Amino acid sequence: MSMNYDQWEAACGVRSGPRHRLEANQAPEATYFPLALVPYAAEVEKRWGRPVCQELLVHRLYEYLRFTELLELKSINHVGTLIAFDELIVPMSRELRSQAFLLIRDEAHHATGADDVAHQIELATGVSRLPSAKPQFLHRLGAMREAQDKDLAPLIDVAFATISETLISGSLAQIPKDPNVVSLVRGYTADHARDEARHSSYFSEFFAKFWPQLPVAVREQLGLLLPELSLAFLEPDYASHQRVLEAIGLSATESRKLVQQAYPAEQAATAVRRPLQGTIRLFQRVGVFDDHRTHDAFAERGLIG
Ligand SMILES: [Fe+2]
Ligand SMILES: [Fe+2]
Repeated sequence: MSMNYDQWEAACGVRSGPRHRLEANQAPEATYFPLALVPYAAEVEKRWGRPVCQELLVHRLYEYLRFTELLELKSINHVGTLIAFDELIVPMSRELRSQAFLLIRDEAHHATGADDVAHQIELATGVSRLPSAKPQFLHRLGAMREAQDKDLAPLIDVAFATISETLISGSLAQIPKDPNVVSLVRGYTADHARDEARHSSYFSEFFAKFWPQLPVAVREQLGLLLPELSLAFLEPDYASHQRVLEAIGLSATESRKLVQQAYPAEQAATAVRRPLQGTIRLFQRVGVFDDHRTHDAFAERGLIG
């Protein structure tokens, strides 16, 4: 069950956590991002050497931080604002609206922290962030909004935010646990993960009130879009991987080959199913799969058995 307003107010990272700073002397084995989260990193190290691999990990961190900034500010806080001002087609309780303000503050803090971490590492390493590129989730979200009725757009955003806030992101869970990752990155991510546990309960509670109140026709339309929204968040951002590999000096062909080998198509469904378990249980609980076409749409995309 989610915490009450006072508990949330006191516990959020922006109130209770320190600003994380990069330590001047790093151990020789220190990295900026877990090697285990970049499936082609070991191959890069073997063929192009450790300094190139280290630069790759710095860029993978930057991409992860940019993803965080855009997700928080353009997606979650957009939806938080709709809830806070009661601008959805179904009314929200005073409690959920007040907590939406706390949510917005948390997410703004996570985005600010991401920018701060990236900037400290740019200064320390001399490796600059690549020019900002739209991550795939924003492309796919935009395409879905355009393909549907205008009225559905805010509901698509709400569904996407619910999915991304209730699934268990592999990186958020794994980064703090990797002893080789610099403490700046681990500390920042651990604080973020703590706040996100609260958001997951919040969105479960919110969605359980939101979904059943929607008109049946809207639930039917939106239900069919939930699998694509899940995949937009969870599928690898191939263009981002490719861009980084080319930036560290690999050819376009080498980069494409590495990425294809690292994310084999036949394992794609299994890889996205695991983090999605909690979200699927939420959908089951609130009756999303009562419409068999929604259930079938999830099955067709390999998201449920
Ligand atoms: Fe966040
Ligand atoms: Fe969040």
